[in-house]
Amino acid sequence: METFDGLNLRLCHELQAAGCPMASHLKEQLEFEEFLAQLSTMFVNVRPDEVDSRITLALQRIVEFLDIDRSGFGEVTKEGFRILQSYELPGIPRSPRVLLEQEFPVYAKLIQRGEVFRMPRDLPPDAIRELEYCRNTGLRSNLTVPLKSMGRVVGGLGMTSFRHEIDWSADLVNRLSLVGEIFTNAIERKQADLELRSREASLSLAHEELRQLAAKLLNAQEEERRRIAREMHDDWTQRLAILGIDVAQLAKESDIPEKMRQPLHAMQNELVRLAEDVHALSRQLHPSILDDLGLVEALRSECVSFANREHITVDYSSKGILGDLPKDVALCVYRVAQEALRNIAKHAAVDEAKVSLIASESEVVLRVEDQGIGFEVESMRSQPGLGLSSIVERIRLIRADLVIDSFPGRGTTIEVHIPRERNNS
Ligand SMILES: Nc1ncnc2c1ncn2[C@@H]1O[C@H](COP(=O)(O)OP(=O)(O)O)[C@@H](O)[C@H]1O
Ligand SMILES: [Mg+2]
Repeated sequence: METFDGLNLRLCHELQAAGCPMASHLKEQLEFEEFLAQLSTMFVNVRPDEVDSRITLALQRIVEFLDIDRSGFGEVTKEGFRILQSYELPGIPRSPRVLLEQEFPVYAKLIQRGEVFRMPRDLPPDAIRELEYCRNTGLRSNLTVPLKSMGRVVGGLGMTSFRHEIDWSADLVNRLSLVGEIFTNAIERKQADLELRSREASLSLAHEELRQLAAKLLNAQEEERRRIAREMHDDWTQRLAILGIDVAQLAKESDIPEKMRQPLHAMQNELVRLAEDVHALSRQLHPSILDDLGLVEALRSECVSFANREHITVDYSSKGILGDLPKDVALCVYRVAQEALRNIAKHAAVDEAKVSLIASESEVVLRVEDQGIGFEVESMRSQPGLGLSSIVERIRLIRADLVIDSFPGRGTTIEVHIPRERNNS
């Protein structure tokens, strides 16, 4: 299909043939406009990684359209002007890759000033290096158009001829400035995309570092809990037991005043309760029962002590053969159950809860559920509390999946799915 400009061009040909004096000017203008339109389309919807190859193609088109020998574009950096890409006809000297201030100081300065300039015409007599370059390479004519972004010079677009001189008329210079704008636009988009990607990369790095830190903190916390639990269990409970025995013996002595007997009995009972509390707390801190009796029994015992402590009935069940779960996986499941139960006591406003551990060939599933007040899962995701965030991190560390199902007024279910093959890896 013929384009609008194509149609106009044909009309110009006919006008020219008919001897119209304005026809050739009009034709030139239309040809340039069509050229500009083609260049612009080359950069429409172009992917950032395609920008460079499109620029090379555009440079080739410029060379062909203007009937010149070389065209190139470069960017202004802190070090000076650097040619990024160029296209030249066969046999034509390539653009110097770097045009640092020291090598071509006048050229670099002119570009940085952001003015359109021609070589060798606009070169001052002290541009010794540049004039030498023109002489040595046989450069006859060059035009450099500055590329500006938000009023700042970011680069330049150069067009060079070695074969003949070119009349860089004001009209032509104006039009080539438009070509420069197309280039600037494409480069800006690429730059923006690169920045976005680098920000994304550093964000995901920061995210990863944060996760590693969370993992370290969780491990350190477990380590510390284990240490304190051992101390409480091995040392404090022993000492309390000995103290209890001493008090019991004292109470049996025949020569103590009668009125001391009752308080001594009370002290003995209190010491027994204290020993039990210390023991229970030590088990909560680090469940040695996990190592001794395994996850199924450890969870059962946790449910029983939770029920006694919080006066909430817990229906605990386990199904299937669990087999040997790695220690970190068992501890994670235990901790998630502990936190989920704690949350039920703290938030759910119920007097019943259900805990189940279901083992199948493909996965192990822990489910903790209540029929309490529930909550909005989505709003919780954006601002989770410490309990839920540590659940999420723990689950991620053992490469399991977490499903939180809750709705205001309809209770809460927390499920951990641990695929068998991921545990073995
Ligand atoms: N079983 C539950 N029933 C109702 N609300 C819950 C339950 N579990 C968690 N929530 C809600 O999720 C929030 C975040 O829980 P969590 O991260 O453990 O923090 P915390 O318990 O310290 O408030 C709670 O404040 C509560 O609003
Ligand atoms: Mg909590």
